[in-house]
Amino acid sequence: MRTLNLDTLSIYRGNLILVNKEHPITRRENKYSASLVSVNSSYPEILLDYIAAKELSQIINLLNANYEILPVSGYRTLSEQKQIYSNSINENGAEFTEKYVALPNRSEHQTGLAIDLAENNGEYDFIRPHFPYSGICLQFRKKAIHYGFIERYPKGKEEITGIYHEPWHFRYVGYPHSEIMSMKNLTLEEYIEYIRMFPYKGKHLKFFNYEYTYEIFYCSLTFIQQNPLTLPTNTPYQISGNNIDGFIITLRKSK
Ligand code: DAL
Ligand code: ZN
Repeated sequence: MRTLNLDTLSIYRGNLILVNKEHPITRRENKYSASLVSVNSSYPEILLDYIAAKELSQIINLLNANYEILPVSGYRTLSEQKQIYSNSINENGAEFTEKYVALPNRSEHQTGLAIDLAENNGEYDFIRPHFPYSGICLQFRKKAIHYGFIERYPKGKEEITGIYHEPWHFRYVGYPHSEIMSMKNLTLEEYIEYIRMFPYKGKHLKFFNYEYTYEIFYCSLTFIQQNPLTLPTNTPYQISGNNIDGFIITLRKSK
């Protein structure tokens, strides 16, 4: 067994951090933008977390969709988000902007884990690019789930996410979380709450595919500060903060 030590700041890092109106980006979290890379060499200015960028490239390459699917907006700095927000207020008004643009420090584009995509029709709208539920875009949606991406702002969940339906906005949460969220029709807000039902010292959430068994559980920071978190040696694991109060731990076991 190995023991993990996690500090308070780790809550604000990882693929599953929840960023929305209630749970803003903390200034400390901005520091991890060191892991950013260009989504591909044709778009050097569009940056994404390097693992998310790698997985995105895999999907696009598998679909041979480099020409048909265009990256529109990836990582944004705080000042870029401020600019986008105030430009949209001026050009589109407050009602529109509140629906489709997150407030500065409430945008998950600032994490490097979100990407807006457009179907290549010659031109696209920066705030609401066209990304339909048909053709190559539908194929992308189906594959994305297996590579760690979710459609972050689905129709019918506006009350929960606080953002209107955005068919073009994808968020990297990592596998198998993307697949579980999709199967259970959960937004990231709902998933973060759902995982609380599976504590470290209780029944864990299990997910199986043909190759691995995944075990997922939640651990609060308060708990970890009082009890050592021990994980089996030789089992690959991932830890993500939830940007609220604790961690989601994912173990991958061979079958
Ligand atoms: N369009 C999304 C909500 C953002 O601005 O982060
Ligand atoms: Zn977006």
